[in-house]
Amino acid sequence: MLITSLDSPEKIWPKLLGELQQGVAEASHPFRYLTLATQGLHFPQVRMVVLREITSSLQLVVFTDFRSGKVSELIEKPRASLLFYHPTKKVQVRIKALASVHAGDEFAQGYWRSLAAHNRKEYTSLLAPGTKLNGPEQGTAWNEKENFFTVIAFSPLSIEVLQLSKQGHLRLEFDQASAWQGKWLAP
Ligand SMILES: Cc1cc2nc3c(=O)[nH]c(=O)nc-3n(C[C@H](O)[C@H](O)[C@H](O)COP(=O)(O)O)c2cc1C
Repeated sequence: MLITSLDSPEKIWPKLLGELQQGVAEASHPFRYLTLATQGLHFPQVRMVVLREITSSLQLVVFTDFRSGKVSELIEKPRASLLFYHPTKKVQVRIKALASVHAGDEFAQGYWRSLAAHNRKEYTSLLAPGTKLNGPEQGTAWNEKENFFTVIAFSPLSIEVLQLSKQGHLRLEFDQASAWQGKWLAP
């Protein structure tokens, strides 16, 4: 359990942020991965991504390839939803956020400089993600000179937490508009 009915929203907020930060710090933490939902052209789109950082201004940072579908979707419609689940603590976290896409700017370059060579390679594929191939070997050709490294920063508008519990589920919403004051919701 991350939270109990005895905790106040003020006490839960730092606990929640601490747990999300652990997703960044620990490779095996379940919050290392999140489901990112975007508004696609014809369908809602979902996919797993890695949580790379949570900045001091509470932006959640994800790395990707500029040519991937999620980038054009977020440039067109920057409203996104992020979903986390911790199976041992039985906690779901849902975040509504506005995305900003960074490619080639100082924000993105700071992260690029911190990447090891083998990690940089992931953003240098010759063919754009999702390109149709004649065979799998075509997908492992690398571009020596150009990279498509892109950082997406998600600024949360609301963060909702659901704690599953045999004693009764607990649900709260924290929203940016009220300076992250938490309110209990019916689960
Ligand atoms: C566990 C896991 C972690 C992933 N992490 C990332 C990631 O951090 N960034 C990324 O662009 N794609 C990541 N992917 C791949 C995406 O889920 C997705 O397949 C790819 O980015 C193309 O998505 P799009 O066409 O919707 O943009 C990950 C996939 C899995 C299964």
